Amino acid sequence: MTNSKSLIVFLTLITAVSFHAKGLAVSAEGGWKASPELAETLTKRRPETNYYEQAVPKYTLPDPLVTSDGRIVTDARTWRTRRRPEILELFRTHVYGRSPIGRPMNMAFKVFDLDRKALAGLATRKQVTVSFTGKIGGPKMDILIYLPNAVKTPAATFVLLNFGGNHTIHPDPAIKLSKGWMRPGRAGVVKNRATEESRGRSYLSYPVEKILKHGYGLATIYYGDIDPDFHDGFKNGVHRVFDELFGGKRPPDAWGAIGAWAWGLSRAMDYFETDGDIDHKRVAVLGHSRLGKTALWAGAQDQRFAIVISNNSGCGGAALSRRRFGETVGRINKSFPHWFCENFKKYNGREDGLPVDQHMLIALIAPRPVYVTSADEDLWADPRGEFLACRRADRVYRLLGVDGLGVVQMPGLDSPVQKGAIGYHVRSGSHALSEYDWQHFMDFADMHFTGPRQR
Ligand code: GCU
Repeated sequence: MTNSKSLIVFLTLITAVSFHAKGLAVSAEGGWKASPELAETLTKRRPETNYYEQAVPKYTLPDPLVTSDGRIVTDARTWRTRRRPEILELFRTHVYGRSPIGRPMNMAFKVFDLDRKALAGLATRKQVTVSFTGKIGGPKMDILIYLPNAVKTPAATFVLLNFGGNHTIHPDPAIKLSKGWMRPGRAGVVKNRATEESRGRSYLSYPVEKILKHGYGLATIYYGDIDPDFHDGFKNGVHRVFDELFGGKRPPDAWGAIGAWAWGLSRAMDYFETDGDIDHKRVAVLGHSRLGKTALWAGAQDQRFAIVISNNSGCGGAALSRRRFGETVGRINKSFPHWFCENFKKYNGREDGLPVDQHMLIALIAPRPVYVTSADEDLWADPRGEFLACRRADRVYRLLGVDGLGVVQMPGLDSPVQKGAIGYHVRSGSHALSEYDWQHFMDFADMHFTGPRQR
C-alpha cells in the first residue's frame, strides 16, 4: 500500500469511528439517527433510493387544520364535521381508493370451531367463516380467535391480518390450514399453496400465549382470503364481486388491495359486534408492513377501532411521502400496482402535488390512541418519516382535547414514547413484528383500555 493510500484508509477509519461515537452520543441525548454504514450498504444495493437525511428534499406539508378553501380549523366541531370528512375523501380519491361503505346486506357468519379449553386451558379458540355475500362459492374469510380464559369476558382484543395463513401463527393443530393463494417464497408454500410444513412457522411474530396471559384476546385473518396479493386486474377476492354490484366499472378512485384488506378488517369488526365474548368497544387493530398500512387505513375509516397500531408500515403507511427517503410513491406503485388506487400513480415522482400526506392519515384516527413503530435497520420504511408524521398529527389530537405525542425530538433507540394518545418507538433490529413490539402494544393498550386485569 502506498503512503497516500494508507493515509486515506487511516482517515476513513478515524471518520467512521468518530461518526459512530457521535451517533452514540446523539442517541444518548435521545435522538435516533440512521447508521451511516447501513445507508452506504443500502445505497450500493439500490443506487436510485435515497438513504441520507441530508438528501431529503425541502418540502411543505399540507396543513391538517386548514380546509381546502383556506379556512383555519380552530375547534373540534369544525374538525369533525368539515375537515375530517374532507381529508377522508382526499385519501379515498387520491391514495387508497373508495371501498363499499358499511356492512354488506347478506353477509353471514358461521362459527365452525369452538373449544373452551384450547392451548391447555389457557384460551377459548373460535374459528369463524365470514361469507361476505352470504352466497355459497362467494368470497369469504376465516377469523381465528383466541380469548383468555383467565379474564372475565368480554375480552379486549387485538385484531390483525397475517401474511401466511391463520395456521402459521401457532402450532395448534386445530387451526384450519389456509387453502388460499399464497405468495411464493414463504416456508412451507408449494405452488402458491400452504402445506402442513408451514404450521406455526410465524409464531415468533405472534406471541399468542404471552398475549393471552396478559389478558388480551387475539384475532387474525389471512389477508389473501380477502384479496390475494398479486396484480390480476382485480378479478379475484372481494373486488370482482363488489365491483360488479357497483356496475362493474373501475374508476380511477376504485379501491385497491389495501382498501380491500382494510374493508375486511371492518367486516371482522361487524362479527365482533355479534360475539358476546369479545369487547367490541376495546378492539385494537394492528398490522405489520403492508398490513400496517392497511391497519392505519382501516382505523382511519372505521371509528369502531378503539386503538390503531402500525408496525414498520413505511411508504403509504405512517411515513411522510414528501421526504422520498427509502421507498417512494413511484417505487411502490411500480412494484405493487394493485395496492393503491389508479389515481395514486399520478403522484409518482411528484409527491408535492399530493393534497395529503401521511400525517393526515394519523390525524384521521384522532382522538383515538395510535401507536407507530419503526425499526433501526428498516431504512426502506423511513423511521424518521414515520416519527415526523406522528409529530405533525399531534396538533389535531390537541385540538380535540387529548395529549398527542408529547415530544418534539425523535426518541433514541428502544426508548418508547408512550405518554399521550400517540405512541412511538424505534426498536433495534430489522423489519419485523417482534415480541418487543407486542410488549409495548400491550402496555399502550393497558394505559388506554384501563387495563384488562383490573376488571
Ligand atoms: C415491500 C414493500 C413495502 C412493504 C413490505 C411488506 O418491502 O416495498 O412497502 O411494507 O414489502 O409488506 O413486507
